Amino acid sequence: MNKHILLGICGGIAAYKSAELVRLLRKQNYEVKVVMTSSAIEFVSALTFQALSANPVSTQLLNAEEENAMGHINLARWADVFIIAPATANIIAKFSHGLADDLLSTLYLAATCSIYIAPAMNQAMWNKEITQENIQKLRLHGVQLIGPEQGSQACGETGFGRMSEAKDICQVLVQAFSYSNKLQNINILISAGPTREPLDPVRYISNRSSGKMGYALAEAARNAGAHVTLISGPVTLAVPDNIQCIKVETAEQMHHAVISRAAKHDIYIGAAAVADYSPADLSATKIKKQNNESVLKLQKTKDVLADVAALNDRPTFVVGFAAETNNLEQYAKEKLSKKNLDMIAANWVGQEQGGFDSDENALQVYWPSGHQLLNMTDKKQLAKQLISLIVEKMNEKSTT
Ligand code: PMT
Repeated sequence: MNKHILLGICGGIAAYKSAELVRLLRKQNYEVKVVMTSSAIEFVSALTFQALSANPVSTQLLNAEEENAMGHINLARWADVFIIAPATANIIAKFSHGLADDLLSTLYLAATCSIYIAPAMNQAMWNKEITQENIQKLRLHGVQLIGPEQGSQACGETGFGRMSEAKDICQVLVQAFSYSNKLQNINILISAGPTREPLDPVRYISNRSSGKMGYALAEAARNAGAHVTLISGPVTLAVPDNIQCIKVETAEQMHHAVISRAAKHDIYIGAAAVADYSPADLSATKIKKQNNESVLKLQKTKDVLADVAALNDRPTFVVGFAAETNNLEQYAKEKLSKKNLDMIAANWVGQEQGGFDSDENALQVYWPSGHQLLNMTDKKQLAKQLISLIVEKMNEKSTT
């Protein structure tokens, strides 16, 4: 079936580039429907897009001709991808605040497919703190950014704010569709979040993991077409749609939840921060304050990752994480070979940027014959990059 692309066009001089974009998308055999804001039709006529897309152009939120006057819901359901090009500072602000006072902004709220924006505006407007805050907010909500590019602008100024060229936008969408098939028919098991090791009925030992990295991986794997099972320690994140999630608390529970399912999966990714030690004794009652010093006796937990990799019917590809405050490369490589992994994604923790509880991260990824740095970016983007790398290396493994 042909992919459906919903193209939103805002009022900006870059709207002329959107005509070429429609032409290129149609050349890829995508079906395109266009939505224009009232200012967009001041720049380019709706008729141009109707002719190029071979579909009626929508401009009004309330369209009595549409069945039940639910045109916005129907369009949102129809779309496999929703792209706004050009996206003005105004629409970016509206999206980021959840406003829905016209068709385009209402569609943003109604759409459940992947959303891309190609911003176009004056460089000062782009650099304005409030615009950057809005962009950051949309990124965190999973909106993907294409551009803007640097260069001379229609207003005579030079800087960031030019809309990306139509061919580059088209290329991003082509790649996105190919990504969405990368893990078709693949079962993937992912652990995420911290574990809690109880001392008594009210206290536990844990760590700073928020689950953001593991949940982003689960979402990225699902978007690549995989069936995803997430084994999650206690976190406050919502489970993404179409992902089976098993909630656990302790390292022992995580071990059981993962090991009992691992053989049925093609890939295991251990992103959870599983406790290495748990209290040797669990007090049935609250431990009372006594001496100035109190000594805790701890015992080693089972290593979930190493035990998955040691299974006779282990997943085809086993990926570990390494969280380090020093000697990142050395420790990661040691874990890769000692735990018999196919890949390890190492990250710095305890630093200002990235690691635990941050929205961003960077990964130094190692596999037996190579390595690659995935630069600091938000965890959703990073997860997508790691999933792509896993697919690439898993395919290489299966052909050797
Ligand atoms: O959750 P966030 O706030 O987004 O933070 C992300 C993260 C920093 C937690 C994540 O990127 C990460 O690094 N996860 C692994 C944390 C960790 O426990 O690293 P480690 O170097 O201690 O362990 C190495 C590997 O062994 C990990 O894959 C871990 O899941 C696994 N392990 C460790 C102990 C144990 N008992 N069982 C395990 O499976």
